[in-house]
Amino acid sequence: MVRRVHGGRAISEGAGVRIRRTVGLPDLDVLDPFLLFDEFRSDDAADYLAGFPDHPHRGFETVTYMLQGRMEHLDSVGNRGNLGPGWVQWMTAGRGIIHSEMPQQERGLMWGFQIWVNLPAAQKMTAPRYQDVPPEQIPEVAIEGAQVKVLAGSFGGVEGPVSGVSTSPLFLDVSMDAGASCEVSIPRGHTALCYVVTGALSPSLGHLPVERGQLVIFGDGDRLALAAGEAACRCIVLAGAPLGEPVARHGPFVMNTREELVQAFEDFRSGRFVEGG
Ligand code: CO
Repeated sequence: MVRRVHGGRAISEGAGVRIRRTVGLPDLDVLDPFLLFDEFRSDDAADYLAGFPDHPHRGFETVTYMLQGRMEHLDSVGNRGNLGPGWVQWMTAGRGIIHSEMPQQERGLMWGFQIWVNLPAAQKMTAPRYQDVPPEQIPEVAIEGAQVKVLAGSFGGVEGPVSGVSTSPLFLDVSMDAGASCEVSIPRGHTALCYVVTGALSPSLGHLPVERGQLVIFGDGDRLALAAGEAACRCIVLAGAPLGEPVARHGPFVMNTREELVQAFEDFRSGRFVEGG
């Protein structure tokens, strides 16, 4: 059931923000439809203060999930969002936005995730769309020693607030007490991942524990059997329908062909991202 455990790497992104990346590296470029999986977590302001000043995106979706701290999001057409602890922002960049993501604090813990989800060819040039969801709108399901926040998709008969996404994503924040377990249904054929946020996870019966900061990639199946060990465990479960299309990516642009990438750079340089909204 577990296909691979991936350790990830500490790198620097934006204007010098220290992050831990597991998907979006040369040895794990794409896990269709997921293009990037980053965790930022630091209580040293020097690691995050510089933030992510103005930068473009085209052809995919960026998902920001905050656990601690506050990040302000501002874009080229005047959309503004202040993401605090527990907020999720699902942004469909579509044909293009220019935005900044800047910390709203000068000290304390900044902790969260950024995930990139690909768009099918038919939707890469769609109008940008934002789904900003406060924590009180994220349902939580409790089952015998496990608490599951449902951000997207469904779990335990409960639907998450993020909707209308073409890859039918499942996005869960799972907290298990020591010794507890949790079973998650996944549609067959969907790509399924689990990132260990705290503690250690047994991702299937008899599998060795997977440590914090590691990503578990599952093989095809219809359910995940997650379990905490001797300590409590928190993990992010992510699944989605693969697109099976060619990926041409460079920096903040993810298209299907090299020509479309060149066009994206030209449109960005000539200011068409701002006009287009
Ligand atoms: Co961005």
